[in-house]
Amino acid sequence: MTENSASDLTLEEKASLTSGADFWTTKAIDRVGIPSVMMTDGPHGLRKQSGSTDHLGLAASVPATCFPPAVGLGSSFDPEIIERVGAAIGVEAAIEDVAVVLGPGINIKRSPLCGRNFEYFSEDPIVSGILGAASVRGIQSQGVGTSLKHFAANNQEFDRMRASSDVDPRPLREIYLRGFERVVKDAAPWTVMCSYNKLNGVWTSEDPWLLTSVLRDDWGFDGLVVSDWGAVNDRVAGVAAGLDLEMPASGGRTDAQLVAAVRAGTLEESVLDTAAARAIDLVRKAGERPAVDGPLDVDAHHALAREAAGRSIVLLKNDDALLPLAADQRIAVIGAFATEPRFQGAGSSLINPTRVDKALDELRAVGGENIAYAAGFAVEGGAVAASGRKAEELRAEAVGVAAAADVAVLFLGLPAVEESEGFDRDHIDLPAEQLAVLDAVLEVNPRVVVVLSNGGVVALPFADRVPAIIESWLLGQAGGSAVADVLYGAVNPSGKLTETVPVRLEDNPSFGNFPGEFGHVRYGEGLLVGYRWYDAKGLEVTFPFGHGLSYTTFEYGSAAAEVGAGGDITVRLDVTNSGDRDGREIVQVYVAPEKSLVQRAPRELKAFASVALAAGETRAVELVVRREDLAYWDVRVDRWVVESGSYTLDVAASSRDIRSSVTVGVEGDEVHQELTMNSSIGDLMSHPVAGPIVQQALGGLLGGGGDTAAASMMPNDEAMQKMMASFPIGRLAGFPGLPVTFEQIEQLVAAANADGHAVD
Ligand code: BGC
Repeated sequence: MTENSASDLTLEEKASLTSGADFWTTKAIDRVGIPSVMMTDGPHGLRKQSGSTDHLGLAASVPATCFPPAVGLGSSFDPEIIERVGAAIGVEAAIEDVAVVLGPGINIKRSPLCGRNFEYFSEDPIVSGILGAASVRGIQSQGVGTSLKHFAANNQEFDRMRASSDVDPRPLREIYLRGFERVVKDAAPWTVMCSYNKLNGVWTSEDPWLLTSVLRDDWGFDGLVVSDWGAVNDRVAGVAAGLDLEMPASGGRTDAQLVAAVRAGTLEESVLDTAAARAIDLVRKAGERPAVDGPLDVDAHHALAREAAGRSIVLLKNDDALLPLAADQRIAVIGAFATEPRFQGAGSSLINPTRVDKALDELRAVGGENIAYAAGFAVEGGAVAASGRKAEELRAEAVGVAAAADVAVLFLGLPAVEESEGFDRDHIDLPAEQLAVLDAVLEVNPRVVVVLSNGGVVALPFADRVPAIIESWLLGQAGGSAVADVLYGAVNPSGKLTETVPVRLEDNPSFGNFPGEFGHVRYGEGLLVGYRWYDAKGLEVTFPFGHGLSYTTFEYGSAAAEVGAGGDITVRLDVTNSGDRDGREIVQVYVAPEKSLVQRAPRELKAFASVALAAGETRAVELVVRREDLAYWDVRVDRWVVESGSYTLDVAASSRDIRSSVTVGVEGDEVHQELTMNSSIGDLMSHPVAGPIVQQALGGLLGGGGDTAAASMMPNDEAMQKMMASFPIGRLAGFPGLPVTFEQIEQLVAAANADGHAVD
């Protein structure tokens, strides 16, 4: 491609660059040598459809490695392995000459019901942001672009193409946008994909605040914004708002609308130039990638998929060290998922895997004759058959093998038909038939290991009755071997939960506000998303955010923390592998200010590290909490503010397993806010200039032992102070017994404003 700019192009040509040629490619302009480039899904492997394309994944796509979807990979809490997986996806994309992989998806898991949770990392924005950035870095390291999606507040599938996510400014910034901000700033994705939904009543595909003020002006994004497939409502408004590329093709209809709008003067030509220039820039970047020859090293990528899947598995429970299994134990493997694995979710991310490992085969490769198998229940067409005589027979067979075994390993999970892009679940229960098999097995053999396959969280009403539980999520094509690796101890599990496992769906913060009605979903829980809610309410959970066990044990030394010159806090501690196996621990740092002007969760995750430790090894671990991550979004001044004061840093093995705490003093940001006659006495009292004057002038009234009518009605001075703190200063003038005039107060306010000090 020759060096091009939008100024070389006709109006029609510029417009043509702002929408797709077909389902997956951009338009070429041969006259000036601009080629077409291809984008494909994503995110956990390549879904490049071969031959003629369709949107629903019906047309076969080329075989590609199916790595663990984000629900699994996220549990690794390990940017390093996510980056390696990203690089491998980048290689596969390069071999297929794909310019942009449509991912990662980093939307917050607001409700466990969201049908697409398997494609997202976490209920926490720092986790989503750090892991999303790793994925972008990995893919882009191969000269292949990414598309950070779905921007923004797309946290459900129900009515996803129309509903408005109604979110208050603080949760929007602190929870739903924070991860996007981090990925944009840290990893510079080539493209960002706007979502289908509306945000606070405005289509995200035509929201100038979201696509330009926030994304570009605040965060410095300089790539291209692409629509989700079919997300465009009003193309002219979209271009004006900062939506550069519409996908897929519109058959030229919307290009013509843009041309007409420019000619009619309703769209500045320079705005269209900018969108076209970004499209040209994307093509230029794609053109800089050196050609990569195939064939794909299928074995190497499968091995990476297996390693990544092993790293994703979460050992939820392991009483009396029931796991790992020994090769000479008699094992009853029960559950159709052992032979028909669920390893990915349905929809646009569906990969055509190069191969698929089955847990039963892999277990037999180790345990041989010692493995007996019973399906327990049937998986038919992705659905688990739940009734009839057949079910009873299958159950009886399962009971038979379990009774004769040392340990029964039950593969339970969600049928594929229950979770997918495009719709949400309406409950979080495992199928009753599977629970019935579990109950029947427990009656004959209490030594039970449950291995779960599910893209979204499920309730675990049996958690107290089953000694060992493995959450294996959806693990990609090598999930079967990775599960065998963990069950037999070739891999020591190290994954931890990036989302809470609640006792009941009803406990979830979005309950009652999900999925909304009549085109609106109100994010009524505000900031208290996920563990923030369960902790704030002191609710019992089945397994807390950040939880995950190992076959070894880890001891945490006491933590020390130091605030660096730029305000970042470095936390240091020794972590020891105190058991007799090599292992890996996810060390977490949760932070909370001791006092705050605003609502805060009891603690929020701000840093984590995945630390590999040989048996007996002690290592000095260092984690950095960024100063900016201490900030809340201040709606008074519309910006991030770090509060001054003491902050507690909890170093923890999970959100509910705090091992060491340390406190640091933080110098915060000043908030300059003009005082007015309606500012409260409290506002003035905390003002460095006005405060002492007010204290002196109003001492009696404020509880300094004065003898006013107001003071006599309050129980004591402290109560009086509290009441008066919210009293507007202007209304004090002329109060009987108060020696201040309206003019004096005005002067005081003016003097304080002239001084320019902060009020908090
Ligand atoms: C999905 C996107 C996907 C796109 C292209 C949309 O329906 O929401 O995540 O990248 O289709 O397949």
